[in-house]
Amino acid sequence: MTDITVPARKPARPHFSSGPCAKPPGYSPEKLATDSLGRSHRAKIGKSRLAYCIDLMREVLQLPDTHRIGIVPGSDTGAFEMAMWTMLGARPVTTLAWESFGEGWVTDAVKQLKLDPTVLRADYGQLPDLGQVDWSNDVLFTWNGTTSGVRVPNGDWIAEDREGLSFADATSAVFAYDIPWDKIDVATFSWQKVLGGEGGHGVLILGPRAVERLESYTPSWPLPKVFRLTKGGKLTEGVFKGETINTPSMLAVEDAICALEWAKSLGGLEGLKARSDANAAALDTIVSERDWLGHLAADPASRSKTSVCLTVEGADTDFIKKFAAVLDKEGAAYDIAGYRDAPAGLRIWCGATVDTADIEALGPWLDYAYATVKAAA
Ligand SMILES: Cc1ncc(COP(=O)(O)O)c(C=O)c1O
Repeated sequence: MTDITVPARKPARPHFSSGPCAKPPGYSPEKLATDSLGRSHRAKIGKSRLAYCIDLMREVLQLPDTHRIGIVPGSDTGAFEMAMWTMLGARPVTTLAWESFGEGWVTDAVKQLKLDPTVLRADYGQLPDLGQVDWSNDVLFTWNGTTSGVRVPNGDWIAEDREGLSFADATSAVFAYDIPWDKIDVATFSWQKVLGGEGGHGVLILGPRAVERLESYTPSWPLPKVFRLTKGGKLTEGVFKGETINTPSMLAVEDAICALEWAKSLGGLEGLKARSDANAAALDTIVSERDWLGHLAADPASRSKTSVCLTVEGADTDFIKKFAAVLDKEGAAYDIAGYRDAPAGLRIWCGATVDTADIEALGPWLDYAYATVKAAA
């Protein structure tokens, strides 16, 4: 039998899931404020906590006053579909897809809204040619493709003088990259990713041109109440002040506040980005030191710094399942198998809530799992 050495040191927090992601370091439920719980979310206390959460998000995201930000139901999916259902249909649509979630928005546009969009696709690990985008269209894209670890490198490809609207599903991108807000008409995310918050709620960011669309255009299809953002042709401004459409989880809101206060204590966006960058660099060192590990994202310029997807030489789905199970059982790494629709491989979250020392400690455990599964084959 092969002698396989068990590494001496485990990651202190083996939480490498790409969503819900690791809680902020030092997190404990006791740290959450609870005065708003068991009260109406429309009471003064509830409204003020929702408004405070919105203010904190604006501050940490460095979101300009031109853009509104609101808390909506249905996590990131709810927020993005709310945007699609309320604003699309006014002009031609282009959807970009290079992994599972972008593909989900294509399905929505084609099969549900029957919009006959132009679809620009690329395989897992690649980006479509962003230069092909026709900005007279409304354009839907995922800033960071969580299931392939490929992101857009920046916003340079988004036309300043676009006639269409830009819709960014930015759930695993915000709080990790600089987002050029002047190029973004709609962005969505959920707290469960880079903030290590809870799922359930989505966050919807609207630029002025999106508001203009909402106030001047009524889609031909019916809109459920949870998607409705206007009343009598006017934007429901309350949504962007904490008057949520329906009942929110104040526990999830308090949890997000706790994460945002942690983010502020690090210096806000710069602090969050620095942690994510350091984590991705530490993982890249691990990859470069092993010939059996590689990056699924071919081009470093568009390689994710949050959801980093790795190839494992000779591995199929079964191998990866066993590999992940070895580390789960040891308590060395949780939830690192790649997404079910992605090519067999590993996915290791490098967002800000993960500690770099834990990424560093992961290297020998990856060797251990690789050797263990190979030896058993
Ligand atoms: C890019 C992207 N879009 C959408 C989603 C769906 O997010 P939620 O489950 O918060 O609705 C995810 C979740 O992993 C994602 O990574």
